[in-house]
Amino acid sequence: MSPKRKIALVTGASSGIGAATARKLATEGVIVGLAARRKERLEGLVTEITGGGGKAIALPTDVTDPASCKAAANALIAQFGRIDVLVNNAGQMPLSSVDSLKVNEWKQMVDVNISGVLNATAAVLPQMIAQHSGHIFNMFSIAGRKVFTGLAVYCATKAAVTAFSDGLRMEIGPKHNIRVTCIQPGAVKSELYDQITDPTYRKQMDDLATSMTFLEGEDIANTILFALKSPPRMDVAELFVLPTEQGW
Ligand SMILES: NC(=O)c1ccc[n+]([C@@H]2O[C@H](COP(=O)([O-])OP(=O)(O)OC[C@H]3O[C@@H](n4cnc5c(N)ncnc54)[C@H](OP(=O)(O)O)[C@@H]3O)[C@@H](O)[C@H]2O)c1
Repeated sequence: MSPKRKIALVTGASSGIGAATARKLATEGVIVGLAARRKERLEGLVTEITGGGGKAIALPTDVTDPASCKAAANALIAQFGRIDVLVNNAGQMPLSSVDSLKVNEWKQMVDVNISGVLNATAAVLPQMIAQHSGHIFNMFSIAGRKVFTGLAVYCATKAAVTAFSDGLRMEIGPKHNIRVTCIQPGAVKSELYDQITDPTYRKQMDDLATSMTFLEGEDIANTILFALKSPPRMDVAELFVLPTEQGW
């Protein structure tokens, strides 16, 4: 599938990997629907993308709400008639030890990292099925492959959606001609660590950031583009992308 003139919905587009992906897709001629909660961030990115000659629209969305996801998808369909790409990227990672019982943060991760992926997928799937084409990207993590202390719940959410991604690919690829790509990054520079309320884990992540060169959001955007530009017969099912200096 050529990315030219395609329509994409990117969740978590207000910062980090999602914003970088939206910028990259827009420079490739893709019309991008920017979905996240922070409206002013989305509007700023629309201005930036439009100023660079691209096209994007802000779609304030809370992925934990199925109706909010459906409204974002419907807005894109109403304006452009189709959805070719979904980037399921919204995510949260407030690290803590299990015995500190930060149950609200656990719920937040389950709601955004698991339910958010299911909600956004459900929102675009009927349109992609009707088109008999589409490409769904799921932004998972090295944390879906390995377990780390302090990340027990985060790893559980990423492992759950890694399983979902593979099952989704097996079901909708052959039947509906929809490709599914699971991206599993290692450490990427973003705002993800800002949500950590546990001072020990916050320091651990800040120390990590000074111990090696993290990937840039643009590096992940480029891997998305690689999979998107691959020929229609080819589904890049999984991409494990790490900083060269990451020794774990
Ligand atoms: N950075 C890394 O090292 C790394 C590594 C592996 C995987 N990942 C994954 O990559 C994805 C992007 O993270 P990032 O690193 O780019 O972090 P980030 O800069 O914090 O971006 C997270 C995005 O998710 C959005 N979001 C959070 N809750 C949301 C909700 N309820 N509804 C809609 N959007 C929501 C945020 O927007 P709003 O706050 O405006 O809603 C933000 O745009 C996540 O799934 C993360 O798990 C990151």
